[in-house]
Amino acid sequence: MPSPAAAPGSDGLAPHPTLGQRSLQAVWHPCTRLRPAPAAGEPPLAIARGEGPWLFDAQGQRYFDATSSWWVNLFGHANPAINAALREQLDTIEHVMLAGCTHAPAVELAERLRALTGGALGNAFYASDGASAVEIALKMSFHFWRNTGLPAKREFVCLRHSYHGETIGALGVTDVAVFRDAYAPLLTQAHVVMSPDARQAAPGESAAGVAARALAELEALLRERGGQIAALIIEPLVQCATGMAMYDPSYLDGARALCDRYRVHLIADEIAVGCGRTGTFFAWEQARGDAGPGAAPLAAHLWPDFLCLSKGISGGYLPLSLVLSRDAIQQAFVADDVARSFLHSHSYTGNPLACRAALATLDLFAQQDVLVRNRERARWLAEAMAGLAADARLTHVRQRGLIWAADVRAELAGADFAARFHQAGLARELLIRPLGRTLYVLPPYVFDAAQARWLAGRLQSTLDAVLAPAAAGTARREQKESLDAA
Ligand SMILES: Cc1ncc(COP(=O)(O)O)c(C=O)c1O
Repeated sequence: MPSPAAAPGSDGLAPHPTLGQRSLQAVWHPCTRLRPAPAAGEPPLAIARGEGPWLFDAQGQRYFDATSSWWVNLFGHANPAINAALREQLDTIEHVMLAGCTHAPAVELAERLRALTGGALGNAFYASDGASAVEIALKMSFHFWRNTGLPAKREFVCLRHSYHGETIGALGVTDVAVFRDAYAPLLTQAHVVMSPDARQAAPGESAAGVAARALAELEALLRERGGQIAALIIEPLVQCATGMAMYDPSYLDGARALCDRYRVHLIADEIAVGCGRTGTFFAWEQARGDAGPGAAPLAAHLWPDFLCLSKGISGGYLPLSLVLSRDAIQQAFVADDVARSFLHSHSYTGNPLACRAALATLDLFAQQDVLVRNRERARWLAEAMAGLAADARLTHVRQRGLIWAADVRAELAGADFAARFHQAGLARELLIRPLGRTLYVLPPYVFDAAQARWLAGRLQSTLDAVLAPAAAGTARREQKESLDAA
């Protein structure tokens, strides 16, 4: 079990509660059900420290952070380079408001991100969490059309099963029932169009074929309602929260062309897939196919209109998000009239410590040739996972960069598969949380070939342990059915 039972107090009387037990009393944990007894009260895993891809609990037990702590960590925990940058920043300026003031980390980060898009996108608008960045992009898009004389363009389009965060605006473009349905009366629901998720391929159909079908559905909507639609929002290449649904890059290029044709903004939500996760720094760079290191940069007109970043941009250290946009979009907000201004703000907008962590993260990309080395890591991962890829209990085995995923066959997964897998993983030094019956790893960029093999071995043994009772159950059912039939 992750958290040991309460230890006896030093006075020998009442046991002192563990940190996990105190947390249950004191903290309302995110994305966690408060269940009535007897299921209630499973304490969370109390982490004392981290180092590289490892997390350690108070007893010194290690766990491999197989999903980078909700997809934020890039270069391992307690990374010496990011730590040093933050220590220096702490002694300089920890925070100052970004309205009427500025500071070097916010400016340098904005400049460097513009350079990474070849100058296509800039004007970094900072916030803290991913959902805030999505809110900002949606508001900016609507406000742009209003400022340019098209106030009727106020609807949004998202993909089936999309996830863009859980504030009210972000939930409006999120199509995951478990997060959205309870709040449906509060939401302005977007149009939901077919996802290009390659798992939907008909026999003999390619991933590009699925993307083409999805584009046709998008076009039908844009043709009909383009005059009312402000923007399409998509997660490029991988719809993460819905179960690491991967799709053909041709969808990106096709969506860009349709948005141009029907005068609709394109918002790329790279909160999870940005910062090298899919093989390029921005996933969008693959819009025209393979865009590995050394490839020609994407032409400016092929980029989205808005690009949201968060999670990995601060190396997984501090809450930081931002929206990049085209200069033509910012131009529409240049006016003396206050009603045309984008007056959105958050108290911690552009926090210097968070921006400094991001600069240190970008330094690591530059100094350590991370994108090239990640290609090698992606290969190690694919090779290590070969055994699992051949496991008949898994379907739709897929990989994009440093995201590897597979679905456990529905008839085998059983109830609460994700929770059972999580618990069984902890007993095997793995911190991992499947999404439904989608098993996936999304590790920090600090593992070597041996660790990839270790990870695959632990995944395999966890899967065997979790599916064993189900398999036994199936066998028992089959036996019973044959007895019934006899
Ligand atoms: C694609 C995407 N967009 C938005 C968000 C929301 O980010 P946050 O949880 O920081 O609000 C997430 C979070 O997982 C995400 O994966």
